[in-house]
Amino acid sequence: MNASPSSVPSGPIRIGSEDHKRLFCRVFLDTFDAYKPAVIPWPTLDADALKRLTGLPFWQMAVETEEEAGRRMQAAADASADPLIREAIALNAFEERRHKDVLENMIRFYGIRIAPEYDPAPLPDPEWAFLQTGYGEAFDSFFAFGLFKVAQDSGYFPPELVEVFEPVIQEEARHILFFAHWVAFMQANRALPVRPVFMAKRVRALAQKAWNRLRFARGSDNRSSMTMDGHKSLGISLSPRAFFELCLSENDRRMARYDARLLRPRFMPALVRVALPLMGRA
Ligand SMILES: [Fe+2]
Ligand SMILES: [Fe+2]
Repeated sequence: MNASPSSVPSGPIRIGSEDHKRLFCRVFLDTFDAYKPAVIPWPTLDADALKRLTGLPFWQMAVETEEEAGRRMQAAADASADPLIREAIALNAFEERRHKDVLENMIRFYGIRIAPEYDPAPLPDPEWAFLQTGYGEAFDSFFAFGLFKVAQDSGYFPPELVEVFEPVIQEEARHILFFAHWVAFMQANRALPVRPVFMAKRVRALAQKAWNRLRFARGSDNRSSMTMDGHKSLGISLSPRAFFELCLSENDRRMARYDARLLRPRFMPALVRVALPLMGRA
């Protein structure tokens, strides 16, 4: 999958250039996976596995997160002046809606109960909405990579069920790679006097998401618990350090599939690498 798009010359790429835009958008568009949620063969589960699946606490939050991400990304796509960027963000929105379809099909098939649809708030600033969603995904997906590996290795669910979610998880890696480059491109293309304004907006979105996610420590935010603490729901006892190390290696493995000229998102790996020495082995 590491092939370079033919429309982008080989060699180093300057962040913010037309070649940079073509590269990160084409890599995103050309690596689209055309799977169809409607034809996923959901495996039959034995009574114990079914109970474990229906008892997981995060399905409601997962469906809402995908729906909200799709809505925000579509708003950002509709507001994008550049046709190529618009096409890529619209595909991102489509994929989020498709994640929701996968989850809803699974929920129906196994009889999992969730509350009716939530009431979405209006999005007066699509760029702000995309920044918030993008940084939220960067955080959540990083932990989802580790969680998925735990689910794969644990045998807690049949492999056929776990594998249904492989394309979903890989798409999230693609999304955060695209988002990191979209942010860098937008930053570089702002006129000099307004660059600090966009930078401030980024920092605000990032800080808001970081604060929101760190509230998990106080047990007051279900979304963070879903990804950072999800392995406990899967009945796996793993030290925080071992889990973070797993997230790091899975992040690197999933990102390695894309054009090497695209710099990898650094924020979450850097944050976790700083935290690791402070964590015990137990
Ligand atoms: Fe998603
Ligand atoms: Fe996503």
